[in-house]
Amino acid sequence: MTQSLTIRRPDDWHLHLRDGAMMRAVLPLSAEHFTRAIIMPNLVPPVVTAQDARAYRDRIRAALPARADFTPLMTLYLTENTNPDDVQKAHAEGLITALKLYPAGATTNSASGVSDFSKVDAVLERMTALGLPLCTHGEVTDPAVDIFDREAVFIERVLDPIRQRHPDLRVVMEHITTSDAVDYVLASKGNLAATITTHHLVINRNHILAGGIRPHYYCLPVAKRETHRLALRAAATSGDARFFLGTDSAPHKDANKLLPCGCAGCFTAPNTLSILAEVFEQDGALDKLEAFTSLNGPAYYGLPVNDATLTLIRETPSFPSRIDTDDGPVTVFDPDMDLHWKVAP
Ligand code: DOR
Ligand code: ZN
Repeated sequence: MTQSLTIRRPDDWHLHLRDGAMMRAVLPLSAEHFTRAIIMPNLVPPVVTAQDARAYRDRIRAALPARADFTPLMTLYLTENTNPDDVQKAHAEGLITALKLYPAGATTNSASGVSDFSKVDAVLERMTALGLPLCTHGEVTDPAVDIFDREAVFIERVLDPIRQRHPDLRVVMEHITTSDAVDYVLASKGNLAATITTHHLVINRNHILAGGIRPHYYCLPVAKRETHRLALRAAATSGDARFFLGTDSAPHKDANKLLPCGCAGCFTAPNTLSILAEVFEQDGALDKLEAFTSLNGPAYYGLPVNDATLTLIRETPSFPSRIDTDDGPVTVFDPDMDLHWKVAP
């Protein structure tokens, strides 16, 4: 039985760090295991301009623990008013790694997102020319569409038309949750990739709703039925270069999760790697873990893999059920299974 596993240090290709007290509490936990992360721009107000991204990057750098080796890869929040020249300048400066598309109203702090997708064609054209990837929150917001169908409908109504209009645009479908999304990526020719979260490899919708409502398992896109989870597991553990880790670790203080209308998000930064090692071992794919966490993402983004390594050892890890922040406690994602792998100190 393998007792230890050494891999290139992982990157997180989709992370919410928030700001202020929350950021100070959660950032060290990601920086402990990850070398780089794509930082989501859905602050209030959102990170829309190059100037916003520069200021946010500097706040992140200032909040890093002294010895941390962690690079935030910044994104801009795409709006109908985003200026292609501003995007180009930010790209030329090396300030941004991607733009993020939120359909207006799809999720936490997405009110400034896009309603009329034709209004962002000029920006998408410029991004295509620059080779700058678009990260998508792939859910339609049409109230007539069932919440469990919103990802599949997004592919058909929004994403595929965008890709037909901009066939060379590089697109990352973020946090995919359905076999429809897996199949759509598999059918593509290579400029399309997808991130998969840790929690969507572990939970299905029963975790949220069966035997009582469990708000800490509620995130967006919402976890789907078991067949979809199994399709995500197969994609993640396959080693296929088009699938890589984006944890979507999304901390909310418990007071905001436990409301009659609670926030979406699972906080997985502390235990993600222990959970992933368990998942990959269960599926007989420990040898594919490094591709998912550390190789496929850099390859897609055209960045070098990390030189440093990280070692997992077969030892029972322990995690707090919640962490304290100056904003209040934040519950850590409970994978609802025994874990046997720990990141070596
Ligand atoms: O569950 C989620 N939480 N999904 C998102 O798309 C946003 C995120 C957040 O910012 O809390
Ligand atoms: Zn997210």
